[in-house]
Amino acid sequence: MATRILNKSHFGDPLDKGRTLTREQAMQLLADWVGNERLILHMRQVGALMGAWAIERESLSVDDAWRWELAGLLHDADWDRWPEEHCAKIVSELEQRHIDPEIIRAIASHGPAHFGVDPETRMDRMLYAFDELSGLVHAYSLMRPEGYAGMEVKGVRKRLKEKTFAANVSRDDIRDACERATIELDDLIAFIIRHQPSVTLS
Ligand SMILES: [Fe+2]
Repeated sequence: MATRILNKSHFGDPLDKGRTLTREQAMQLLADWVGNERLILHMRQVGALMGAWAIERESLSVDDAWRWELAGLLHDADWDRWPEEHCAKIVSELEQRHIDPEIIRAIASHGPAHFGVDPETRMDRMLYAFDELSGLVHAYSLMRPEGYAGMEVKGVRKRLKEKTFAANVSRDDIRDACERATIELDDLIAFIIRHQPSVTLS
């Protein structure tokens, strides 16, 4: 993948802290920007994982969990229509809309190898960690006749080892993300297996 280094290290305006989009506004942005419904599903999945993690594992408030979810929900919003400007476009849109800088920063750092921004906060690191692994677990569910039902961590582990399975999913990014977030890979896989099935195409 081509690099799209963002060449900046500060995102948004500290005065906008706490400002978010409503769920309706976020879904409208996705409807306006993204024609690919699989990509919308991917963002909804990552958003749901982020929100669930914020509540369950970071003990954050419902408002904070929505900020986490929103970062997941919008992180690839510009990928479909502006692949060459991926990340820069959504970052500048959210800056213009005066969205919480922490959310913008998390989106800007979800692919450090591509955008040149290090995931530093917990929100940054969890978005980076969920992104690729969520996609691989979803791909695995599509090849299993029973979908997510009965899926086990060791099955996902096996698919991770098969380089040809979901070959576009970066194993290096998954390893790097777990290290940065100081999370065991098995823990992350189990969390995704538990929370991802409820998010479906609809
Ligand atoms: Fe993504």
